[in-house]
Amino acid sequence: MFPEVRLRRLRRTPAIRQLFDAPFPPPGKFIWPVFVVEGENRCEPIPSMPGQFRYSADQLVKALEPVVAQGIGGVLLFGQTEGEKDAIGSGAFDERGVVQRTIPLLKRAYPDLVVMTDVCLCAYTAHGHCGPLDRNGQVDNDAAIELLARVALSHAEAGADCVAPSAMMDGQVQAIRETLADHDLNDTLLMAYSSKFASSMYGPFRDAENSAPSAGDRKGYQASYRNLRTALRESAFDEDEGADILMVKPALFYLDVLQKVRETSDLPVAVYNVSGEYSMLIATAERGWGDLREMVRESIMALDRAGADLFISYWASRYGEIFG
Ligand code: PBG
Ligand code: ZN
Repeated sequence: MFPEVRLRRLRRTPAIRQLFDAPFPPPGKFIWPVFVVEGENRCEPIPSMPGQFRYSADQLVKALEPVVAQGIGGVLLFGQTEGEKDAIGSGAFDERGVVQRTIPLLKRAYPDLVVMTDVCLCAYTAHGHCGPLDRNGQVDNDAAIELLARVALSHAEAGADCVAPSAMMDGQVQAIRETLADHDLNDTLLMAYSSKFASSMYGPFRDAENSAPSAGDRKGYQASYRNLRTALRESAFDEDEGADILMVKPALFYLDVLQKVRETSDLPVAVYNVSGEYSMLIATAERGWGDLREMVRESIMALDRAGADLFISYWASRYGEIFG
């Protein structure tokens, strides 16, 4: 007890602190979520996400050069179409679609980069929901999972290392796993957005992707943050359905969920540090209310302590600036 015991001894100088501080997660644990658009020579700033851009495939290859040089673990691709959107989101499984065409270009330029793809329909449906609607205007679960399996298959056939379904439909992981197996795609990783919450932190992303639902919200399929048990069951179900990697999303308001999923499963657990979490730190820093680099470091360390194995974060593209 005090005065013999003095805890400040262990943190008196930077050199002493360095002996005992946990390391920041290395760049290889980071996945960069990135938006790809049609055409060429496009690198358009996203106003709600300063420092992030929509890239055409050729420009993404270019933008990745310094990011790959930093040792980043991989990318998670989100496609955006300027073509016709329809009721079922058929653009999402078009083999000539933007994601399907970008994958081989990335693989050719960076053979060791892990290429993951978001599997959903909301950027391709006219109504902006993550599946087709039934007669009552509700998302039709069983029709959605058939379509999601086609999307995942088209990405895997294009050479994606990992497909990541984010629609929060029941049975989507099983449907995708079975479809991949039917096509002998037994090496494709499946990362489930397993505990994905109906969150108001996706605003900047929906802006970037132009994927906000035109009517209603996603509360009928994404998990409720007021019901911890069903959120945890979502991850357990996806494990049973054949997921290789689980995920908690968003990240910073859900550290308890992350810790619980990490404790109750032996699968790797990814955390998705979403657009609103990225932009809120930037907005705070822009007002002079906090130091960006310090805030980002502190927030990433919180995810690390809570047990994240993989960090899906827009900060991935700025790893050197934040952790260098
Ligand atoms: C689409 C999808 C969303 C995000 C990832 N995939 C938006 C949503 O569910 O509305 C959010 C990512 C972010 O905010 O960074 N299913
Ligand atoms: Zn969606």
